[in-house]
Amino acid sequence: MSTEPRAELFGPDVVAKAQDLMGRYPQSRSALLPMLHLVQSVQGHVSQEGIDFCAAQLGLSEAEVSAVATFYTMYKRRPCGEHLVSVCTNTLCAALGGDAIYEKLQERLGVGHEETAGEPGEPGSITLEHAECLAACDLAPVLQVNYEYYDKQTPESAAELVDALRRGEKPPPTRGAPLTGFRGAELRLAGFFPEDEETFRSEVDGPSQAPETLRGARLAADRGWTAPVMEDAPLPEVQAK
Ligand code: FES
Repeated sequence: MSTEPRAELFGPDVVAKAQDLMGRYPQSRSALLPMLHLVQSVQGHVSQEGIDFCAAQLGLSEAEVSAVATFYTMYKRRPCGEHLVSVCTNTLCAALGGDAIYEKLQERLGVGHEETAGEPGEPGSITLEHAECLAACDLAPVLQVNYEYYDKQTPESAAELVDALRRGEKPPPTRGAPLTGFRGAELRLAGFFPEDEETFRSEVDGPSQAPETLRGARLAADRGWTAPVMEDAPLPEVQAK
C-alpha cells in the first residue's frame, strides 16, 4: 500500500478547496460532509490524518469528525480501490438476482464485503461492497461503480464488467456520467466540477432517466393527473457563526 507524506496529501490546493467549501455555508461546520468527500478524493479513504485535517479546518474535535465519518457508509475507513463496486442486495434486487450477482463477484474477485482486489488505489483495483437499496428498484437488479449505475444486471454481465475494470477499461454506465475513478467521483461529491461548460457536459453530465423511471409520469400526463400545488413555506432564519 502506498504511503504519502502528509504535506503532499493536504497541500495548499486541498486547503484552498476546504476553505472554499467552508465559505459555502452560513456555519462552517456544515462543510464537514463535503470536506470528508474531499479527503477521500485525495486519499481514497478517510484516514486519521484526514480526520485531523477536517477537525483543524473546521475547529471541531477529532471525536466530532470521527463520529460523522464512522456513521455514514459513503465514508470509507480503509483505502479503496481505483473502483468501488456496490452491489444492491436489498429486497427487490436480491429477489431478482442481486444476491447471485454479489456471490459471483465475490468469487470472481476473491474478496468479501469492503475488501479490495489488487492494491488499493492502483489501476484496476476494485473494492467490493454489498449495498442497501440504491434507489433504482425499477431497474433491478442494479450495481454501481463509483456511484454510477449499471442497470438490469446478471451474474454474467457483472462478472464481465469487473473483468473489464480489472483490465483498466471503463465500460460506460447504463445512464448518467461517464465512468471515472473512485477519487474523481469523490471530488464531484465534494462539490467541485469542471468550470468549462463543454468539459462539464462531457465529463459530469449525462441523461439519467430511464424509460421505466418515467413510466408513472408518462401515465399521469396521458391521463391528465396532477399533484396538489405545494404552498410556499418560508425558510427559517439561520444565524452565521
Ligand atoms: S432494492 Fe435494489 S435498487 Fe432498490
